[in-house]
Amino acid sequence: HPSNHQLEEKSILKRAECRAKGGAPGFKVAILGAAGGIGQPLSLLMKMNPLVSVLHLYDVVNTPGVTADISHMDTGAVVKGFLGQQQLENALMGMDLIIIPAGIPRKPGMTRDDLFNINAGIVKTLCEGIAKCCPNAIVNLISNPVNSTVPIAAEVFKKAGTYDPKKLLGVTMLDVVRANTFVAEVLGVDPREVDVPVVGGHAGVTILPLLSQVKPPCSFTAEETEYLTKRIQDGGTEVVQAKAGAGSATLSMAYAAVKFADACLRGLKGDAGIVECAFVSSQVTELPFFACKARLGRAGAEEIYQLGPLNEYERVGLEKAKKELAESIQKGISFIRK
Ligand code: NAI
Repeated sequence: HPSNHQLEEKSILKRAECRAKGGAPGFKVAILGAAGGIGQPLSLLMKMNPLVSVLHLYDVVNTPGVTADISHMDTGAVVKGFLGQQQLENALMGMDLIIIPAGIPRKPGMTRDDLFNINAGIVKTLCEGIAKCCPNAIVNLISNPVNSTVPIAAEVFKKAGTYDPKKLLGVTMLDVVRANTFVAEVLGVDPREVDVPVVGGHAGVTILPLLSQVKPPCSFTAEETEYLTKRIQDGGTEVVQAKAGAGSATLSMAYAAVKFADACLRGLKGDAGIVECAFVSSQVTELPFFACKARLGRAGAEEIYQLGPLNEYERVGLEKAKKELAESIQKGISFIRK
């Protein structure tokens, strides 16, 4: 009787042949931090994504169990687990998209910046591996503080000579998902009908929902604007407090990460008109990174859109956001350059 491993290898080969003959499209995706609170539901949802043919699950603990469990799902993607630093390179080799939810989450009373000391080192190590093994992959970075970890990743890639700003995307989709939900509640409509651009960054006042640009067009009173802006900015803290020490958003984050990863894969596949917000390298402001709407295509974030007309409330918010963002970006850059 052939071993599970032999069967798996055979199945991967068969599917590769099928793709080569113009069969089902399929991308190779790796999740780094796959055994964590976000990683597990994210792995589950990516296993269900029809655009994924191979799914690599990497973590420093518990990947054998998570991989065995998820591999029994009767969906198309072939799942392989990788455990510990010595298997990082094998996990990364040949991947099209890397999703990174590795690192510690917040506890009540902590800011995202309090995570810097631990997560900066984790992101650095993982990105060094990416630069070596899959320098052309799209990177979706979830690990906080995103406002600093994206600049860290960029510096690591620059050092390695592999930096492509279009392919490094900080995931701010959860802010958009929350904004859509909270705005829909106020408007009394289905959240699927609402599209709220959220720009700036991914922490406190750097999260800047553009309520004047909500689609479909609508208007809010000053009280509603204040309530919605604060609730969107503090959405993460709302979950941290409710979980009371057991971590931060994991389930809604996994949903948001898959929504974003799926948009990246559809872009890679060549679908037209895929536009999502992400924390990217940009010239939209004087800052080197800024979350804004980006058109996702074969090369990654192929076009970054201007902010568009802001109202007075948003202009004040933008100045506050830029001040904090500048410091967080610099902190990330200095971590690698020092
Ligand atoms: P968690 O602690 O449940 O899971 C993190 C996983 O990362 C663990 O399984 C751990 O073993 C793994 N890990 C640690 N060091 C690693 C390394 N060197 N290589 C690979 N894996 C490693 O945390 P959770 O709740 O899943 O959150 C993960 C990160 O995502 C946190 O930094 C959190 O702040 C961030 N986050 C980001 C959001 C966003 O919107 N961008 C939203 C929510 C959380």
